[in-house]
Amino acid sequence: MAKNKQILVLPGDGIGPEIVAEARKVLDKVNDAFSLGLSFVEGHLGGSAIDVHGVPLADETLNIARDSAAILLGAVGGPKWDDLDHSVRPERGLLQIRSELKLFANLRPAVLYPQLADASTLKPEVVSGLDILIVRELTGGIYFGTPRGIRENENGEREGFNTYSYSESEIERIGRIAFEMASKRDKRLCSVDKANVLEATILWREVMDLIAPDYPEVELSHMYVDNAAMQLVREPKQFDVVVTGNMFGDILSDAAAMLTGSIGMLPSASLAKDGSGMYEPCHGSAPDIAGQGSANPFATILSAAMMLRYTLNVPEAADAIEASVGRVLDQGLRTPDIYSEGCTKAATSELGDAVVEELVSAMASG
Ligand code: IPM
Ligand code: MG
Repeated sequence: MAKNKQILVLPGDGIGPEIVAEARKVLDKVNDAFSLGLSFVEGHLGGSAIDVHGVPLADETLNIARDSAAILLGAVGGPKWDDLDHSVRPERGLLQIRSELKLFANLRPAVLYPQLADASTLKPEVVSGLDILIVRELTGGIYFGTPRGIRENENGEREGFNTYSYSESEIERIGRIAFEMASKRDKRLCSVDKANVLEATILWREVMDLIAPDYPEVELSHMYVDNAAMQLVREPKQFDVVVTGNMFGDILSDAAAMLTGSIGMLPSASLAKDGSGMYEPCHGSAPDIAGQGSANPFATILSAAMMLRYTLNVPEAADAIEASVGRVLDQGLRTPDIYSEGCTKAATSELGDAVVEELVSAMASG
């Protein structure tokens, strides 16, 4: 158990507050049942922070984040803030907190609950048994590279430009995380790059090869990102752990999410070197369905489980939450994104309540 047990909760925008409320119910229950001694503080990030503090990430929020063991985040962004300059948009707050806290290792597990094999748009036989871990580098690459901007070129035309760069040490530290993860799983690591075109990823491939001998038990392979996108929908079960840069990881993890039935099922952990981390669903703030009680809270609830596993070192509490989510799916309760015939439509809060009830009955039966 980490020494500091403070959790900063950042509900964010759109459906963020609704899904985070359900994860809080679940965390409150395990906090009690496992005597974890967690305490919670709330803050603002993204659009809600712009409304309250005038910036998407206020210094005071960042300071509380630094003093916390972990952060639970909903989602940020929405049409209300779309017209702001990109430097002050809600998404900047998210990128800034990842960068300030050095949360370079983003773990995105795409696991198909067997109950949802029919909810995927892919054939059940293609996705059943799916268990992939995408390890996305989160604080470098083209999302952070400089120079960047929009300038006037020599023809007097506006030109947008970004920089895709990765240093050896940045590649090595994410590579080592991915190898370690693979060594605890099926021991296969696929590094995804575009080394036939981009120098930054030629180096990426070289560094992955250089560190591979330190993990003789792990089989390393390389794949170009365009092929990886195709293979993910063609034969996703060929993958165990995938490691890739910030932008490719962003894109491939959305594709992987759909394999699990809905992006509403995909949790994530963003970890710093010392194991502190931020936990958030992979999906966005879905402003179109905000306030309707129809958002799927499972990705956020499962993110809370990852927090218990990776930062707070209470895997038994994480297991209990994940098993409870499975039993709620067994009951047939579904939000619209994972609904299929014969199931029962349920609201966001009903799913959270059902997970808590399952936790309670699992405890009662010992
Ligand atoms: C994600 C999101 C973010 C990202 C956006 C909201 C900035 O798409 O976490 O995948 O691109 O990292
Ligand atoms: Mg994304």
